[in-house]
Amino acid sequence: MSTIYLNGKYLPLEQATVSVEDRGFLFGDGVYEVVRLYHGRPFELEAHLQRLRRSIQGAHLPLPNAVADLPAIIERLMAENDLQDANAYVELTRGPAHPRSHAFPAQARPTFLVMPLPIHALPDDAFTRGVSAITVPDVRWRRCDIKSIMLLPNTLAKQQAREQEAFEAIFVRDAIVIEGASTNMFAVIEGLLTTHPADQDMLAGITRQVVLALAADLGLGVREAQFTLDQLYGAEEVFLTSTTAEVVPITQIDGRLVGQGRPGPVTMRLAEAFQKTVGAGIRG
Ligand code: PDD
Repeated sequence: MSTIYLNGKYLPLEQATVSVEDRGFLFGDGVYEVVRLYHGRPFELEAHLQRLRRSIQGAHLPLPNAVADLPAIIERLMAENDLQDANAYVELTRGPAHPRSHAFPAQARPTFLVMPLPIHALPDDAFTRGVSAITVPDVRWRRCDIKSIMLLPNTLAKQQAREQEAFEAIFVRDAIVIEGASTNMFAVIEGLLTTHPADQDMLAGITRQVVLALAADLGLGVREAQFTLDQLYGAEEVFLTSTTAEVVPITQIDGRLVGQGRPGPVTMRLAEAFQKTVGAGIRG
């Protein structure tokens, strides 16, 4: 059983409990981060910390001192759990408050959790055949830049994808492709690598940012601009990015083939460049 960090203490997972009055439990009133560790080292930790601080600010949560200690907390958890390659899940809620009431409690006692999570397995043929996706209406609020634990639209969308044997669900709002249920979307459209601009309608992915930098290094034409569902269907290549999935080619959307229905050259160059950056080989 793994050791986790909860409110200043390192505990076995089964002994770590949170009040039923925790506002994270009652209202989804909290924010989170997922950080990937490669070879025992957190990847892009400073970028995750910055985004966590932005989420905390956006949610009007108090900034606990423990956020500054996050690098040390993660290091200790990896050592205590003897982990090299894993994810670190970080969550901050507004904590317990009595009685249940929507407005903030006079004095918040935030709950701060850090726990290791295993790496997600990708389908074996993710890089030879690519994965499939479906599209769903984006019914979320207009502050998707805040990495909130309030994820019901995302879990419903992902479940719909699973039921249709697809890897990801892509949110579409007013015919514009926004992002995946837990990933960012890239499409190669008329030779240009295109991704939705990082605004309040989507989460500014850390992996997305790394991929944009790699694309610039490789001299690829890049456009951070909105694109439509029709452009997605007609794209030469599509791929998704996230901390847990990294860079994964999408070769089928809503039952239609993307391009030739195989992972494309731009996607594979970026997937390889990403793996080189993190010091690993292509998975799968
Ligand atoms: N999800 N968009 C959404 C809605 C996400 O939930 C995520 C990450 C991303 C990609 O962001 P990043 O590259 O920083 O991981 C985009 C995490 C991994 C999760 O919920 O498990």
